[in-house]
Amino acid sequence: MPVATAEDILLKWRKEFPILSETTYLVTHSMGAMPKKAAVYLNRYLEEWNKEGVTAWDKWLPYVLEHGNLIGSLIDAPEETIIMHQNVSTLTAIAISSIFQPGKRSKVVTTDLNFPSVYYNWKMHESIGMKIHMIRSPDGITIPLEAWEEAIDEETLAVVIDHGIFRSGFMQDVKAITKMAHEKGAYSFVDAYQTTGCVPFSVLDWDADFATGGSHKWLCGGAGAAWMYVKEDLIPKVEPRVTGWLSQANPFNFDLNMEFASNAMRFATGTLGIPALYAARAGTEIIAEIGVDAIRQKSLQLTEKLINLAVSNGFQVNTPRDPDQRAGMVCIDFPGADQVEQELIKRKIIVDYRPKCGIRISPHFYTTEEEIDLFYDELMKLRNS
Ligand SMILES: Cc1ncc(COP(=O)(O)O)c(C=O)c1O
Repeated sequence: MPVATAEDILLKWRKEFPILSETTYLVTHSMGAMPKKAAVYLNRYLEEWNKEGVTAWDKWLPYVLEHGNLIGSLIDAPEETIIMHQNVSTLTAIAISSIFQPGKRSKVVTTDLNFPSVYYNWKMHESIGMKIHMIRSPDGITIPLEAWEEAIDEETLAVVIDHGIFRSGFMQDVKAITKMAHEKGAYSFVDAYQTTGCVPFSVLDWDADFATGGSHKWLCGGAGAAWMYVKEDLIPKVEPRVTGWLSQANPFNFDLNMEFASNAMRFATGTLGIPALYAARAGTEIIAEIGVDAIRQKSLQLTEKLINLAVSNGFQVNTPRDPDQRAGMVCIDFPGADQVEQELIKRKIIVDYRPKCGIRISPHFYTTEEEIDLFYDELMKLRNS
């Protein structure tokens, strides 16, 4: 009997993702494909609501931390250190409200390649004394470690690190930057949206204070289930100003004397988006079952293939060639790339285009080599037409 290769084992999952039989789906960096089982869990939510009414909260409330623990199993986070919310933007506001005190340390180091939504939240505190130090990328692709070293000082409250850069796929050395931050007494806040589920990492090894990400990209979980990890020994030391009744140790006491929960529920606000968590469950379970190491190995092979084909066909590649500096996607640019992206989508080859970046293409565990070849065949035809 023929032995199944690692590749066969990954591709056996394709049938669980219906969109893969309809399209060439190379856009996981933006929105991962939906697993069939997402519908099973969403229906379970509806059944619980229908049959159990208000008593379904006995399951739904504990599920928030359970879902966090499931994410935690992928990123080496201890149990009950992850809170779920609708999006990373909200989580950023909660994190800032936990550590920024006007009149105290106020400098925040960020970069012009970070995802803007997170930046907006820090930036909006300038009117109450926050000082933003923006590191400018020298090439639109990378941020040198020396630039962090120069920027971080005794005034620094926090460093805001995007692990995988959404415009280039560059991967930053979070551990090294966090170490620089800690040496000066600053916090590290990591946005790992572009790597969670496609690059293995450990929040403990990073020694990160806060790390965040969400469900709708590499975790194949649909919209509205973002997560934030907070370092275990930091949780009891901070009190978020952006808050609500579910952050309390005993929320059903409805007490005006506040007492925060001792676990990640401290960063909850009010009623949580349970359907989004149910929708996100199947994708995260599948990633956990496959294992992020296996996903990374395949991702590196296919992103390398994408880069080699781009270089040999004379495209500008806006993604690092060094595998240690590359997350899960490849960006290629040329005049007219935005129009070509539209034409590719008409041909059911799903990628996207971003200014200052080009066409973004990402393989995941469910992508075949033939799909990469098909993408290039069409790209060459369109470029030459
Ligand atoms: C690096 C990064 N952070 C955050 C987000 C999303 O933020 P939010 O959950 O606030 O929509 C994205 C993309 O959607 C992203 O690429």
